[in-house]
Amino acid sequence: MKCRRCREPAIIELRRHNAGFCRDCFVRHCREQVRRAIDEFSMMQPGEHVLVAVSGGKDSLGLWHLLRELGYDADGLYVGLGIGDYSESSASYARAFAHEHGAQLLEIDLVDTYGFDIPEGSLAARRVPCSACGLSKRHVFNEAAMTHGYDVLATGHNLDDEAAVLFGNVLRWQTEYLGRQHPVLPAAPGFVRKVKPLIRLGERELAAYCVVHGIDYIVEECPMAEGNRHLGYKEALNAIEERSPGTKAAFVSTFLERVHSRFVDEATGVRDDLRPCTTCGSPTPPSAAGVCAFCRIRARATGATIPVTAS
Ligand code: AMP
Ligand code: FES
Ligand code: ZN
Repeated sequence: MKCRRCREPAIIELRRHNAGFCRDCFVRHCREQVRRAIDEFSMMQPGEHVLVAVSGGKDSLGLWHLLRELGYDADGLYVGLGIGDYSESSASYARAFAHEHGAQLLEIDLVDTYGFDIPEGSLAARRVPCSACGLSKRHVFNEAAMTHGYDVLATGHNLDDEAAVLFGNVLRWQTEYLGRQHPVLPAAPGFVRKVKPLIRLGERELAAYCVVHGIDYIVEECPMAEGNRHLGYKEALNAIEERSPGTKAAFVSTFLERVHSRFVDEATGVRDDLRPCTTCGSPTPPSAAGVCAFCRIRARATGATIPVTAS
């Protein structure tokens, strides 16, 4: 197979684009997809101070590399979740990347800063680990970006991730989540702007991008995520994509172009009702009796009492 752009031998075939690319044209393709996503959704402006949440995996390390190549002032944020060897090892990949590229890495350890880890938090809150983990990560990412004065927080969610989340939200018709599912969540009181610049690139492209640049990343999945619903959705979508390449990209892009706006009001209504958490100040729904979900998990896991005020 030959490269679609320059006719040199291709190193990768992308069936969804009905094309093969040589090394240089593939790198150019990845950069172009990120540049287009940033432009299309006005994710960030040159000169803004970007914080990239890096897990040590291919997506977030690839994203950090791509943003720096595109000229963005991007620092990394690694959150230590206390998931045994997995966390130790993923931290070492994030640190090695920062060291090798002379980039700044902010590290926040859940135990040191908040007094609990994900296994403890999920047990105490009787939530599945991924739910306690997702909630804690969102809280810590936002707090870190706000405290350190970043303009925007970027995560490494890719096309496969977004398609799987969309699939799950549609299967259960979670309309509030559909209104919130967008590659840009604008800043609001207590919230930093959040962006997903990899929305146009798939998992395989990110893995190939890292290999081509010699970026070492953690290959293992989180041991606590095994068998979760999200992975099942990914497998189902992969089976469909195998038969009709391009389905995932069309599913996500058509949703964003034609469907998302119908659910925005519902999500905005929920956001408008938020009040500062009485413990940490994070925006919280009134139904939570003044205390945010993160502070409640933290209190259960550490045995601390939290002041609950009547709302
Ligand atoms: P996940 O929730 O594991 O699918 O990860 C989604 C995105 O969250 C990744 O692409 C990263 O940008 C970010 N992320 C996940 N885990 C961490 C972590 N431990 N520290 C910092 N960022 C993370
Ligand atoms: Fe969140 Fe594993 S990374 S439960
Ligand atoms: Zn709180």
